[in-house]
Amino acid sequence: MSLAAPGVELAPLRWWHLAELAELERAVFDVDPWTPEMFWSELAQGASRHYLVALSGGRVVGYAGLAVTDDEAYIQTVGVHPGHRGHGLGAQLMVALLREARRRGARSCGLEVRTENRAARALYTRLGFVDVALRRNYYQPSGGDAYVMRARPIDTAGYGAQLDAAAAALAEKDSAALAEKDSAALAEKNRAALAEKDATAALAEKDRAARAEWRTAAEGAP
Ligand SMILES: CC(C)(COP(=O)(O)OP(=O)(O)OC[C@H]1O[C@@H](n2cnc3c(N)ncnc32)[C@H](O)[C@@H]1OP(=O)(O)O)[C@@H](O)C(=O)NCCC(=O)NCCS
Repeated sequence: MSLAAPGVELAPLRWWHLAELAELERAVFDVDPWTPEMFWSELAQGASRHYLVALSGGRVVGYAGLAVTDDEAYIQTVGVHPGHRGHGLGAQLMVALLREARRRGARSCGLEVRTENRAARALYTRLGFVDVALRRNYYQPSGGDAYVMRARPIDTAGYGAQLDAAAAALAEKDSAALAEKDSAALAEKNRAALAEKDATAALAEKDRAARAEWRTAAEGAP
């Protein structure tokens, strides 16, 4: 499927990802994680759901899920492995879900987010979501509060262009990251070549010194 952050691939969630996904869920959400049964139940909903996993070297490092009923879409969940955050993966998963919501004819998209979750709220705001309500004690069993956020309308050409711009910014970020990786690899190669040159010079010098010593000894011999 589509290429995400460098070395990461987005793919539809399948049942064989679920054990790993449930484990990742516990690393992503330290309070109120979904149980494996909750993910099974989401998969069992069939066509009304659209779940993606982000795979890196075959491992699940991110996931996101969408529910669509009539013209209303809903972000069920999104999570990225702590070691893979800050590279645009969360944004890529969200853009993919919102494009799918548009493809299915949704006119708006809602979600809930913990009031103190700054990273997620910044991500959603950038994609056009605004606060529409506050739900006290929404999260259970922790009793955390949630903002309800909504993006609307998402079925317009303007919103499509906003998603395209977000995707283009991510692609640019990716190529900058790749270029940085390439130049770091080149610098490492140059460093290794210089070190090899130095080692060869040191060996030649040692050899020269040994020969000189041997000559001096030979000349001094009776
Ligand atoms: C929210 C989450 C999915 C974002 O994933 P990510 O791969 O790090 O996201 P991105 O790299 O695409 O970052 C998206 C934006 O989030 C914001 N962001 C990321 N980390 C942030 C932080 N520590 N503080 C504030 N904003 C932050 C930035 O606006 C960033 O945009 P930028 O690239 O212009 O800086 C991830 O932090 C996560 O899994 N959190 C725990 C689970 C969770 O809270 N899920 C949402 C439930 S509603």
